[in-house]
Amino acid sequence: MGRTIIDMSDRVVLVTGAGQGVGRQIALDAASNGARAVVVNDFVPERAEAVAEEVRKEGAAALALPFDVTSPDAVEAAFARVREEFGELHALVNNAGNAGAGGKARFEDFWSEPVDGWNAWLGTNLFGVMNCVRAGVPLMRGHGQGRIVTVISDAGRVGEAGLEVYSAAKAGAAGFMRAVARSAGRFGITANSVSISATRTPFVEAMLDDEAAAKEQLKRYIIRRFGTPEDIAGMVVFLSSTAGAWVTGQTISVNGGYAVIP
Ligand SMILES: NC(=O)c1ccc[n+]([C@@H]2O[C@H](COP(=O)([O-])OP(=O)(O)OC[C@H]3O[C@@H](n4cnc5c(N)ncnc54)[C@H](O)[C@@H]3O)[C@@H](O)[C@H]2O)c1
Repeated sequence: MGRTIIDMSDRVVLVTGAGQGVGRQIALDAASNGARAVVVNDFVPERAEAVAEEVRKEGAAALALPFDVTSPDAVEAAFARVREEFGELHALVNNAGNAGAGGKARFEDFWSEPVDGWNAWLGTNLFGVMNCVRAGVPLMRGHGQGRIVTVISDAGRVGEAGLEVYSAAKAGAAGFMRAVARSAGRFGITANSVSISATRTPFVEAMLDDEAAAKEQLKRYIIRRFGTPEDIAGMVVFLSSTAGAWVTGQTISVNGGYAVIP
């Protein structure tokens, strides 16, 4: 009998920002690949509830846990709840990103514009990751199979004009993950980033539906289509599984060839 590569059985997985888009697909794929339980976070409670219901249909237990990753107190309380409910955590997927309605995404001219928008982007994409890792590692230390995966952006690897703050936050998150790989490795915990490019989710759908702009953008992709949440979730679930045991400290792009990094 050959082996099953992605075996999520007995694993408890927490996905932040899982109420739609990439995070939702990660939650569903974790469940359909046998996870014992999936904790579905989103700061929009109805989204978390709806995806938790979908997870249950895939046969896993689900806990909808709405909290804002930018709040250290809310994150601590939420992870305490996970401990109460499941006793331990096997995989933490830091997927919550972007900055809701609170921050300016794109700068016309970074050096001429006010700093007001920066905090929202750094808060979600960098401090949010740090808050969840701080609260999550103590729940993963005991069993030697902990996994942390952070979804970043190729904007943070190769830079994107107009997305200076977002690029900084995502690059910061990847650097943070490399350090965590070193400090948490002694507990058998791996820490990696999955770096993605334009992927069809509610966040970017409108932009990708502008045909002329989409055609222009696609010139930068070796595989001439935008990504789907399924494209991304496969890699994240692999890294969250026991099969990912010897991959750590890495940033792996899943990007249709948008950036090819040696
Ligand atoms: N879609 C893309 O093209 C693309 C490209 C590069 C990187 N990314 C990254 O991929 C990840 C997923 O993106 P997506 O396109 O699925 O996003 P999305 O906006 O469609 O979904 C993100 C979900 O996270 C939730 N969320 C946002 N801030 C939160 C917070 N502070 N606390 C808890 N929940 C929060 C939102 O409510 C939303 O449901 C993000 O980290 C994003 O930065 C996406």
